[in-house]
Amino acid sequence: MDDLSSVGGNSPDVTVSLGDRSYGIAIGSGTLGNLGQECLKLEIGKKVAIITNPTVAGYYLASVRTSLESAGFNVAVVEIPDGEEFKNLDTVASVYNDLVDAGMNRGGFVVALGGGVVGDLAGFAAATFLRGIEFVQVPTTLLSQVDSSVGGKTGVNLDKGKNLVGAFHQPRFVLIDVMTLSTLPEREFIGGLAEVIKYGAVLDAELFGFLEQHSEEILARDPEPLKQIISWCCRLKADVVAQDERETGLRAVLNFGHTLGHAVELLTGYGKYSHGEAVAIGMVAAASFSEQKGFAAPEDTARIRALLARMGLPAEAPQFAPGEYIASLVRDKKSRDGGITFVCNKGIGGFSFERVTDLWPLLSASGIGG
Ligand code: NAD
Ligand code: GLY
Repeated sequence: MDDLSSVGGNSPDVTVSLGDRSYGIAIGSGTLGNLGQECLKLEIGKKVAIITNPTVAGYYLASVRTSLESAGFNVAVVEIPDGEEFKNLDTVASVYNDLVDAGMNRGGFVVALGGGVVGDLAGFAAATFLRGIEFVQVPTTLLSQVDSSVGGKTGVNLDKGKNLVGAFHQPRFVLIDVMTLSTLPEREFIGGLAEVIKYGAVLDAELFGFLEQHSEEILARDPEPLKQIISWCCRLKADVVAQDERETGLRAVLNFGHTLGHAVELLTGYGKYSHGEAVAIGMVAAASFSEQKGFAAPEDTARIRALLARMGLPAEAPQFAPGEYIASLVRDKKSRDGGITFVCNKGIGGFSFERVTDLWPLLSASGIGG
């Protein structure tokens, strides 16, 4: 990993290299007010619609708006209701209408100001409105700063499942201000840490060690280690996305812990566990399965469990009949022919894809069904 001591300021700290669709990610502290100047550099028109929700708007809309207006942009604001339950096609339709009313044309662009829900929905609206306009991500949750704002996956949920409609549409720029995390509710912050731990567990042993060593400062939301870990994760994700933008192979490594995590969310009815908590449970299950398969030692599993616990994340899978878990696992949109491709950790910082058709060993490794 690169020297991280220089992280900060306004320069794009990370680049997602995708040829003529490459873009920068600027990671700093107290940098929201730079958005206008950064957008000017992109030369993507003067009309901008900020898509946000009332919660995030209450904290950050004024500074984002002022920054854009001071840079000479003609700014409209489109608010969507706060909540995963509004990440759907009805909300997208209302956003399209608001964009028309705001006079948005193909020369304009969208700024997604908020967490992953706003980012996914605003990105999808940008991907499809007038057959596609540009957009900029300003993520304000830890999860969106380390994961959803980078890589161009946009979309919405259907009643029949999450993220079933979407498009790959890369942003033109991502501005991450870690100071926005100071207002994030504790449970959301800790949920985001599950994704950070994921990167360490399967992609970078050094990051994992850093998290072990600096857990206290991270939990206290000290901006310095936060900038470091966010940059680190963005670099890792940028590297994966540059190699496999459309998830034909490598990008699936980012699903570590998500396979069983999605089943936990589905079985418990979305809400009992946050996404990050469910992923934490899924990572413990994946680590135990990886150990069973001989990819990892008991000490590796113990370290993953200990770090998740240190960050306040759960480990034990809720008890449902194994058959219910199996039905949920094979319902996942990533399952094929009754089996799943499962991401195992190799030690700490490595991974292996395993095709699993007999799901019982996976469940018993997770403590489900004996
Ligand atoms: P979220 O967007 O619902 O945000 C969580 C809560 O925090 C919301 O109530 C929001 O209003 C509030 N909030 C946001 N920023 C805040 C701040 N700075 N201060 C105070 N409150 C703030 O949830 P999330 O965890 O950011 O995102 C979850 C979504 O991301 C899911 O829909 C998931 O499918 C999606 N996702 C997408 C990708 C991708 O690659 N596109 C990857 C992972 C997750
Ligand atoms: N969050 C997984 C991905 O972006 O591929």
